[in-house]
Amino acid sequence: MGHPGAPRSGVSDGVDSLAAMPAPTDQSAPPASPPARLTTGIELDAVRKAYPDGTVAVEGLSLTVRPGEVLALVGPSGCGKSTTLRMINRLVELTSGRVLVDGEDVTHVDPVALRRRTGYVIQDVGLLPHRTVEANVATVPRLLGWDRQRVRDRVSEVLDLVGLPADRYGRRYPHQLSGGERQRVGVARALATDPPVLLMDEPFGAVDPERRRDLQNQVARILAEVGSTVVLVTHDVDEAVRLGDRVAVLSRGGHLEQVASPLTVLAHPATDRVRDFVGAGAHQRMLALAVVQREDLEDASLVVLPAPPPVALGASLAEAFEAVAALPTSSQGRVPVVDDGGAVVGSLTAAGILGGLRRAADAAAPAVSPAD
Ligand SMILES: Nc1ncnc2c1ncn2[C@@H]1O[C@H](COP(=O)(O)OP(=O)(O)OP(=O)(O)O)[C@@H](O)[C@H]1O
Ligand SMILES: [Mg+2]
Repeated sequence: MGHPGAPRSGVSDGVDSLAAMPAPTDQSAPPASPPARLTTGIELDAVRKAYPDGTVAVEGLSLTVRPGEVLALVGPSGCGKSTTLRMINRLVELTSGRVLVDGEDVTHVDPVALRRRTGYVIQDVGLLPHRTVEANVATVPRLLGWDRQRVRDRVSEVLDLVGLPADRYGRRYPHQLSGGERQRVGVARALATDPPVLLMDEPFGAVDPERRRDLQNQVARILAEVGSTVVLVTHDVDEAVRLGDRVAVLSRGGHLEQVASPLTVLAHPATDRVRDFVGAGAHQRMLALAVVQREDLEDASLVVLPAPPPVALGASLAEAFEAVAALPTSSQGRVPVVDDGGAVVGSLTAAGILGGLRRAADAAAPAVSPAD
């Protein structure tokens, strides 16, 4: 597992160990709705992990994941991201400190029960090769003793959600899928029980860069829909700022450098390490996050006719920049901007885009502390 050179934790990866568990004898199905959601979130309180060989992977990390948010955990290889994630579902046992999920100390919860109500997605997906897509997705619901009809309904529901309809994909085996499709099955499997907590460790790592963007967008939509509390581990800054509601930047030893909104991390890195990690592409990434707003517009009458194709209010500044950059000289670098209804509400130039970028950066200034 993992990219080349990635450390192994020596811990089995959840689902395999779940599948090896006997099904519970209690066949009573849990109530079908509404899905359980966290109310206070996940709290890591001075969490420390020292592995048996003495490696201290995480030293005194305190961090709160708000209910319903996607928190992206980023940082360089070996900084303790996976260890941190795995302490939440006890695939790794913490050495000291506390992890609370909705106020409940995870060390007081049976680890198997804890994992069954926690979705977990990993880089190499970990699908069982000799089971069909349907059977893979059905693993945990079956272990939870759901009746057959409910399992079948839910499997087809989540396969639809990830764009792999059961009638086309359900009976295939993992080796009959592309890498990206396998990854989506992994996401479907994690979502099968509609878990209140979803932990994702480099979930797009095995997908080629071109398809990754696509898959990220799909998963972002799904996550927004399901309302689970999500911790997403990645070492890709672009992925973190695209998918995270907030981004936590870690450095070696699980040291928290900054946790803030994506724009804040990009525009106002709290430390030199965050600045280094975010790197030279910060402004470009901000363009992709910030959107065209009325404040950046000038009068629509300034547009040179024939009017070039318009940009929409709310489009990303990156998209607006592309539109302006593509204009013929005769357009004098100005595009019309339209609202939801298609009515022209103004015009935009490169200067307006830069203004929007500055405004977005100012608005993202940290209020009090860098850890806000
Ligand atoms: N089972 C283990 N025994 C000893 N040391 C370990 C074990 N698992 C991880 N480590 C060490 O703990 C540190 C943190 O590892 P971890 O896997 O949490 O990093 P990571 O941030 O997820 O890295 P990557 O981005 O490469 O996946 C590393 O120094 C790693 O070598
Ligand atoms: Mg890792």
